[in-house]
Amino acid sequence: MQKLSTFDLVPGMILAEDVLNFDRQTILSKGTALTDVLISRIELNGVLSVYIEEDSAPEKPDLFDLEPLEKPEGYGPAPQSPRRDVPPPPPGSNAEYAPSHPSYSERIRSSQEFKDFKKTFDTATENFKFQLNEMIENTAAVDTGELIKAPLKLIEQSGSGSNTFDMIHNMRDYDDLTYAHSMNVALLNYVSASWLGWNEADREMAMACGMLHDIGKLQVSHAILTKPGKLDPVEYKHIQKHPLYGYKILKEKDFDEHILNTALMHHERYDGSGYPLQLSGQSIDKFARLTAISDVYEAMTAARVYRGPLCPFRVIEIFEEEGFEKYDAEYVLTFLSNVGATYVRNACELSDGREAEIIMLNKEKLSRPVVQCGYDYIDLMQHPELSIDKLL
Ligand SMILES: [Fe+2]
Ligand SMILES: [Fe+2]
Repeated sequence: MQKLSTFDLVPGMILAEDVLNFDRQTILSKGTALTDVLISRIELNGVLSVYIEEDSAPEKPDLFDLEPLEKPEGYGPAPQSPRRDVPPPPPGSNAEYAPSHPSYSERIRSSQEFKDFKKTFDTATENFKFQLNEMIENTAAVDTGELIKAPLKLIEQSGSGSNTFDMIHNMRDYDDLTYAHSMNVALLNYVSASWLGWNEADREMAMACGMLHDIGKLQVSHAILTKPGKLDPVEYKHIQKHPLYGYKILKEKDFDEHILNTALMHHERYDGSGYPLQLSGQSIDKFARLTAISDVYEAMTAARVYRGPLCPFRVIEIFEEEGFEKYDAEYVLTFLSNVGATYVRNACELSDGREAEIIMLNKEKLSRPVVQCGYDYIDLMQHPELSIDKLL
């Protein structure tokens, strides 16, 4: 029998003693073979070490069966996403992806409204970074109202839901894994909750949940979080623990239950395929179900120095390809149809190079709307060979 820190447990190990929680209740019995879910349960109960059978020692090869992960948010690279380590084209080069005229996102970015938004965003993110670090270092409770003051101001400043969404979609100067990401998720959560018709209290709660969902990443080493390319299995396991770390940090600070649950459950999936507890359906907190969508959207459109944000219709297509069963159907359909609706009447470029205008969304396939090209109406659902390449 050997005593091991909870952090060193790996699936396959056999418990040599019962595992008890703080109330001396047995949570797992002697002889149980550990799995990822059971290890998470041990951690969740705040158990720091357990006794395991000597001969059930770590089986490293087991870990190598894990699917490699390039992005910590658990989303596979989009087919058109270039590798993170590809250098940007030199200034003034004729690289093939250099746009011939200002794109839709470049026009947004050069507008005064966007510049104002970005300025407030930058200040808010700096402030948030300070608040978060203060919170980790001090034991004092944190006022949630204080935390969401700055992002609420951003929402006010940018007017309607779709407009805010459009600003966020173009706020992609960062490859920041925690602070700016969390701020974006907070704003997306607020907009998404508005689209769902939630009341102001719930919208603000969604915002606070978004801000703090990844706080556990502050306990994952920076080297792992920023490592380009594939993570090794041990690093991957470490990153997968951030929901548990986050839950523990927030629990100590006495935060609202929904905020704790969102930190813990935002990587759970509606069909039970997520982590760390493999919860499914309505057993996942509604704020975590909402945050899961904003989080994936944010991760998918994360900044790359060599390109602007992905075209929103491409993002919708990736969600469609992945399948909606991973998400709350009402939430994901409301989110994506509103993302699509934001760009109705917008000019776009089709994959064959023609310019068109987005006329009407197809409810069955939101990524393939009806577009007008000259005097012709083209239903992209009937034309799989065509797609919207970019907004103009
Ligand atoms: Fe996360
Ligand atoms: Fe996240």
